[in-house]
Amino acid sequence: MSLSRLTLAVLLLLAGFNLQAEGRNAALLASSCAACHGTQGHSVGGTPSLAGLDRLYFIEQMQQFQRGERPATVMMQHARGYTEEEIRLLADYFAAQK
Ligand code: HEC
Repeated sequence: MSLSRLTLAVLLLLAGFNLQAEGRNAALLASSCAACHGTQGHSVGGTPSLAGLDRLYFIEQMQQFQRGERPATVMMQHARGYTEEEIRLLADYFAAQK
């Protein structure tokens, strides 16, 4: 195997690991939403479902909660602890749920 092919193989391997790690992080982050929004965002109570939400809509809502622009009972406090990066991970995670 030539050196450049080896480099490519290593890079692809690393990219794969990185994606896996992000998947786990997102699932872990999302587990703290499950108490109210249901398992993987499938709500069974009065709380809105997050599963299948458009990722841009999701990000917009989280930012509005953080800035206090969207009236909310609990989400203003809840959204505050998350970074932009974590919100993007959560948006991808919930958008991917059926
Ligand atoms: C203590 C219960 C609770 C927890 C925990 C919680 N939420 Fe919420 N969420 C709500 C409620 C209730 C609403 C409706 C708005 C309001 O009254 O705050 C809501 C609304 C939302 C909305 C808007 C949905 C829509 O259709 O417009 C999003 C997005 C959201 N939550 C994301 C999250 C995420 C992401 C987490 C975890 C990081 C989370 N929530 C954790 C109770 C909760």
